[in-house]
Amino acid sequence: MKQKFTSVFTLAFIVLSSFFTVIKPQDKTIESKIDSLLSIMTLDEKIGQLTQLSANSWEFPGKSVISDEQKEAVKKGGVGSFLNLFGAEATRQVQKIAIEQSRLKIPIIFGYDVIHGYKTTFPVPLAEAASWDPEAVEKSSRIQAIEASAAGINWTFAPMVDIARDARWGRIVEGSGEDPYLGSVMAKARVKGFQGNNLADNTSLLACVKHFAGYGAAEGGRDYNTVDISERTLRDIYLRPFKAALDAGAGSFMCSFNEISGVPSSANKHLLTDIFRKEWKADGFILSDWNSIGELVVHGIAANTKEAAKLAITAGVDMDMESGCYKNDLKDLAVGKKISEDVINESARRILRAKYKLGLFDNPYKNCNPELEKTKILTKENIAAALDVAKKSIVLLKNDKNTLPLIKDIKTIAVIGPLAASKADPLGSWEQQGDSNNTVTVLEGVKSKLGSGSKVIYSKGCEIDETGKGGFADAINAAKEADKIILVIGEGGHMSGEAGSRSSLELPGVQEELAKALYETGKPVIAVLMNGRPLAIPWLSQNVPAIVEGWFLGHQAGAAIADVLFGDYNPSGKLPVTFPIATGQVPAYYNHKSTGRPGNDTVVFSSRYKDITPNPLYPFGFGLSYTKFDYSNLTLSANKIKIGEDIKVAVDVKNSGNYDGEEVVQLYVQDIAGSVTRPVKELKRFKKVFLKKGETKKMEFTLTDNDLAFYNIDMKFTVEPGMFKVFAGTNSEELISADFEVTE
Ligand code: GLC
Repeated sequence: MKQKFTSVFTLAFIVLSSFFTVIKPQDKTIESKIDSLLSIMTLDEKIGQLTQLSANSWEFPGKSVISDEQKEAVKKGGVGSFLNLFGAEATRQVQKIAIEQSRLKIPIIFGYDVIHGYKTTFPVPLAEAASWDPEAVEKSSRIQAIEASAAGINWTFAPMVDIARDARWGRIVEGSGEDPYLGSVMAKARVKGFQGNNLADNTSLLACVKHFAGYGAAEGGRDYNTVDISERTLRDIYLRPFKAALDAGAGSFMCSFNEISGVPSSANKHLLTDIFRKEWKADGFILSDWNSIGELVVHGIAANTKEAAKLAITAGVDMDMESGCYKNDLKDLAVGKKISEDVINESARRILRAKYKLGLFDNPYKNCNPELEKTKILTKENIAAALDVAKKSIVLLKNDKNTLPLIKDIKTIAVIGPLAASKADPLGSWEQQGDSNNTVTVLEGVKSKLGSGSKVIYSKGCEIDETGKGGFADAINAAKEADKIILVIGEGGHMSGEAGSRSSLELPGVQEELAKALYETGKPVIAVLMNGRPLAIPWLSQNVPAIVEGWFLGHQAGAAIADVLFGDYNPSGKLPVTFPIATGQVPAYYNHKSTGRPGNDTVVFSSRYKDITPNPLYPFGFGLSYTKFDYSNLTLSANKIKIGEDIKVAVDVKNSGNYDGEEVVQLYVQDIAGSVTRPVKELKRFKKVFLKKGETKKMEFTLTDNDLAFYNIDMKFTVEPGMFKVFAGTNSEELISADFEVTE
């Protein structure tokens, strides 16, 4: 019977498959499978692979749908990918059309902005970078991938690795701050977390490293604005996290909206082909940003969409997000011999390669199962992981007279401010399917720490960004009745993120005036900040006794902040960005050049403003603890090495305070003189270490020539002989140092 069944089945299969050309991959390499597929694809079907359309995920909250026209396009093999289509049911339905109704049954790849969570919302990326804990960040990304893949998503438009030195730029919140090394470590952690060990695994998401490149250098911190930087700055600073992400195995990149010194990224052959493909030998594919190909016309580098399509495809953009330029114009360009069909073939190949690596040909639905989806999202483990990384992301900026931690039998505490009871703002931007009803507010977190003997008084005080002071009186009364005040202020969750640039870094609205009014009551004010960028808060810094940087920590924001405020977690976060003392100070970053007249508080003729100090409010890498760490015995394995040799660095770190705690030991290097000017220091290593009170540990690091190399006067990435300084310490300013020489 079995034999008879098999032959009948085979016969039926052959007959049926004659109507559809069924590609059932044999045991051949992926490339030969792609060769076979490309050989039978029509030009329309190849261009279809290069086309990404957006589902409608804004009209019906929590749902996403595609139009009938889009369904028809799928049937014709005219869509390679959808973005913004999520949910096991919704993605399965669309995949079913591709697999059962299109001629070649090429699976769709579903992309979504899983930036800091799908359903469980984790801290915004800038906050996670403040943890300086790549293991925790990798775990966060892994959980995000497990949730999103259970909802039918195969591809996330993350990690965003743009270096940001101007805090007015709203998208600073989506990255890892101002430093290329910290940014590289975080990029690697996120790629590994999203992609897992094998892209074909059911819980893997293809990473999409963005925005390639230089987006964070937008003039004036104005989103989408012109970027005009040297090739050396591009390579030494902005490209480093991208290369780290690629080296970690990232399977796709997304190019940026901005131009780089006259050439928009979407048409930038030097970036997308010379560097990405030829120099870096990347075999992944490049996605445009939303309509960034169409915007080449607006940039003024393409006369029309057909020219835009030609520029983009020949520069190296493989897939067109939502501009329609590829769908509408590529065929004419190819038929009219304006571009070679080989260029289209190569882009289609890269996209098909990713789909094979994801296992979508063998298993197009992967773990796309509505029942499974319910078991994978918002689990206890996911929420616990979100709380853990949130606590690690909190930065203690000030704690005079040990105002913190608070005691749990405090008699009366006032929790005041427009963000104290907010459920939506702590999720930040790109919260996607995060449900604010699940957010633990600061007010709830504080209440959960106190017993029945304590009284908690809440007052909003004012709105985040309005001028009304009608709520001040109630807030002042609450303060007068309390022993201590927790004041939760900052920005709205969507005052940063895309199109979220602000002209001022000061606290919005009348929040600072509220702080002053509460300060006048004479009760200790503990300020908790919620923000997506550095804020210029000199008055708070000079006057209130304690300040906690709480960022946008996601669902568990209030629980994490309460753990820190009441000493259940000793804060260990460090700033991934410089906090300027005034908006006028930006761009502000620690790894700046010396100039011939370094800014100095006492030297008039130095690089500074007359009306403010040249020093930041809080430097890169800054963060206090409830304990104290002392550094000593910085030793080097040699005081002279040859080019190419490693040098070992050791430093003793002692917990000299009264609490066990974690310290981020930071190692910086300065190349004293080079064939081009060099930064005054650059972060090259860090380690987060737990020390019991009274405990000392010897921290050891190895620096290689790659850590000392830079793009020299001839644009050669190399180490130059000369004197170097190594610094070790608790932030980018409080350091001990030692010198060594590199010889030919
Ligand atoms: C946006 C963003 C990009 C995002 C994409 C899809 O415009 O620039 O970061 O991934 O569109 O939502």
